[in-house]
Amino acid sequence: MCGIVAYIGPREAYPVILKGLKRLEYRGYDSSGVALLHDGLKVYKKKGKVAELEESLVGQNLHAHAGIGHTRWATHGEPSDRNAHPHQSSNGKLAMIHNGIIENYTQLKNELIRKGYQFKSDTDTEVLLNFIEDIQRNNQCILEEAVRIALKRVVGAYVIVLLDKDNPDTLIAARKGSPLVIGVGRGEHFLASDASPIIEYTKEVVYVNDYELAILKADELVLKNLGNEKITPFVQKLDMELAAIEKGGYDHFMLKEIFEQPDTIFDCLRGRLDITNNTITMAGVLQNIDQLKSANRIIIIACGTSWHAGLTAEYIIEELCRIPVEVEYASEFRYRNPVVHPGDVIIAISQSGETADTMVAIERAKEQGAFIFGVVNVVGSSIARISHAGAYTHAGHEIGVASTKAFTAQLVVLTLIALKVAWEKGSVDQERYTHLLHELYAIPEKVREVLLLNRQIEQLAKKYQGATDALYLGRGYNFPIALEGALKLKEISYIHAEGYPAAEMKHGPIALVDEHLPVVFVATRDSYHEKIVSNIQEIKARKGKVIAVITAGDQTITGMADDTIGIPEADEILAPLLSVIPLQLLSYHIGVAKGCDVDKPRNLAKSVTVE
Ligand code: AGP
Ligand code: GLU
Repeated sequence: MCGIVAYIGPREAYPVILKGLKRLEYRGYDSSGVALLHDGLKVYKKKGKVAELEESLVGQNLHAHAGIGHTRWATHGEPSDRNAHPHQSSNGKLAMIHNGIIENYTQLKNELIRKGYQFKSDTDTEVLLNFIEDIQRNNQCILEEAVRIALKRVVGAYVIVLLDKDNPDTLIAARKGSPLVIGVGRGEHFLASDASPIIEYTKEVVYVNDYELAILKADELVLKNLGNEKITPFVQKLDMELAAIEKGGYDHFMLKEIFEQPDTIFDCLRGRLDITNNTITMAGVLQNIDQLKSANRIIIIACGTSWHAGLTAEYIIEELCRIPVEVEYASEFRYRNPVVHPGDVIIAISQSGETADTMVAIERAKEQGAFIFGVVNVVGSSIARISHAGAYTHAGHEIGVASTKAFTAQLVVLTLIALKVAWEKGSVDQERYTHLLHELYAIPEKVREVLLLNRQIEQLAKKYQGATDALYLGRGYNFPIALEGALKLKEISYIHAEGYPAAEMKHGPIALVDEHLPVVFVATRDSYHEKIVSNIQEIKARKGKVIAVITAGDQTITGMADDTIGIPEADEILAPLLSVIPLQLLSYHIGVAKGCDVDKPRNLAKSVTVE
């Protein structure tokens, strides 16, 4: 999640922008930059923190009354000075900042290269900027018109803000799929990704909608649609405090990130799943498809929640690709003397891309000739760099220490990889492949439906917040989700919880069951359903309290369990993407009810960079 800030008005633009970028640091970023318009266009940008940018500008003449600023969360092109924003157009007249992903940037870039354009960065943003310049040149039109024409060809998500050397009194902005707020001051205007950089100057804001264009002068705000029709700006009064704005109105980042999942899953599919042509586009997979589909074995290496994603992937990959999969704790793998053959493929999963155990485990496997495929959230992170190939999860910055949106994004990427390899391998037939693609495409909406259960789950949390222990049970694809649900409860509410294969209970742990023990079953309707019903009966027979995540309408389990959470139907391979959500919410609400610091649980770090 990057941040944008822009200003036009009588104040010095640079201090307003710099302070605004610092207000947006919570969103996460890897580089930053500003462009100022006074006696020409000046662009300053660098990898690293905003403070480093600020330090580098000490002593510079930064006088200007119009400017744009950006904190980058890299998606295309690793974090570096040249990939940082703002980008400048080939003719040097335009500067632009961008938040989002231009899906068809390769096609646009190839067109521009054929016309002789050269690029200074690897970003999709610079492609869009030069595309706008090219349109303005060919059509001899004003910048606003060139932006409108360009955006009609763009596929993807964007917020863009442009400075134009030839029109120093005007900012041009547009959005689709990423947030943009205009601050309306007295003879001045502000732009930002959210209201936190704006609130200290004005509480009057306009939330720009998708496909809208804003043309801003110090004392004039014009809003238009891409059809060049004027729209009356709807000016609202901000009633949130700064802290609340950063959390998007949610009480905690963890809850915000749980609720972001319909969007982050969609972002993860964006540019990869083409539901019209039933295709999956993943450059990292396609370029290495022979290595992947002919793998003797796939070894998945990860830690914590990422390990649970890996365990889910084991079931999916073996089912679809018919390739043997082993899932290894990185911390164990790295100290053993594991047997790894050159024909093996390692899939390394990591949200942060900096987990020490996972990094060393990768090096161990590399020494033995394995091919490393990284599934990572942070672009340009260490694990992304030491992998031979990979796919980013595009979940955006995950602030809550407990991983939620990154986990479901990992599941989506791993499922896409399995489907792509299975299709190329011929181990899945057209009908099932197409069915699963359509099911996957429907997941974001189904997650939205599950999130509607939040209040019900909050009530359920109050009922069980006094528990001292809990069991989480599941079978098949839902077994790793039982493990993940148990981990969430432990790390958020400090209640001891254990995830277990439901069928394993009779081999000892069922001795734990009594009328005080809550047992959470992940029991959505699937090929294991009949068996898990028996497992629930075993627990009820011993007076255990059963909470069951079920497929909505499952009367059988509803008649047996003490509490149920009914979620939408989905193919069993994709059910984990839905069944984990109630467990994330349950652990969150129990943690809140217990007064725990749910965003920063005791003893935990967001990225375990130590061994
Ligand atoms: C998950 O909620 C925890 N924060 C933790 O288990 C985490 O998944 C683990 O440390 C791995 O981190 P990574 O994905 O960044 O490698
Ligand atoms: N896709 C652009 C890039 O990678 C913008 C990323 C962002 O939202 O910061 O530079």
